[in-house]
Amino acid sequence: MSMVSNKPITQTITRIKSRKNSDPIVMITAYDALFASLFDPHVDIILVGDSLHMSFGGALDTLSATMDVMLYHTKAVCQGAKHALVVTDMPFGSYTTPEIALKNAMKIYQKSSAHAIKIEGGKEKASLVKHLTCNGIAVMGHIGLLPQNVRAEGGYKVKGKSKEEEVSLIEDAKALEEAGVFCMVIEGVVAEVAERVAKSVNIPLIGIGAGKNVDGQVLVWSDAFGFFKEFQPKFVKRYLEGAALIENAVQNYANEVKTRAFPDEKTSY
Ligand code: KIV
Repeated sequence: MSMVSNKPITQTITRIKSRKNSDPIVMITAYDALFASLFDPHVDIILVGDSLHMSFGGALDTLSATMDVMLYHTKAVCQGAKHALVVTDMPFGSYTTPEIALKNAMKIYQKSSAHAIKIEGGKEKASLVKHLTCNGIAVMGHIGLLPQNVRAEGGYKVKGKSKEEEVSLIEDAKALEEAGVFCMVIEGVVAEVAERVAKSVNIPLIGIGAGKNVDGQVLVWSDAFGFFKEFQPKFVKRYLEGAALIENAVQNYANEVKTRAFPDEKTSY
């Protein structure tokens, strides 16, 4: 959807690809039909991120998300999204070989109406990605900070802090472009480096914690709308104090039940 238009455009892979160096792509996560339908008129892409296992599953990282979980939430999001492109994260362990990746990606296509899948990794995943794109799967890449590598790397590490890391990121982006991804997420990368990586390829790069000079932005919705009071990463801007609103509402509800103010005549048969 264009930022200047109020009418949502039904998104396609081709339309998203054509947004390189154009008006910024708006992407947000959603995990159910209700929120997908609220976000849908305003965004270009809805990501069924495996972050759902952290935001809503209460897990410490994304590694416990499974194909069954991702499928359940993808089907729900597809019910709510009428215009946005729906992209599903391939969960940890679901793309360990090209054959396993294709089998699982096909499962997502056959059991839901998701438009594309997302895979974490750079040049080391290029041949696997090529196997998917050659078999009719639309793939979104994900480079830079890779949440599925959190245990292997011993934490979430910002990338692009050295010349070697910058060179490696550019190699990743080029290898994925060559393998046929239609766009890619770049996460947790020094802003000037992310800009140079974006300039090195002809497909859109969608940033999260990667500065403003890329082709779009993505945020995890529950972070952006303030549902976590405890923790706010530096790259998150809060557009709502959601936790405070909900706490206030639930407190009002509880008080009214306790004082028998609810239900009243208007809400009784
Ligand atoms: O799982 C997720 O929500 C993601 C975003 C952080 C891009 O991959």
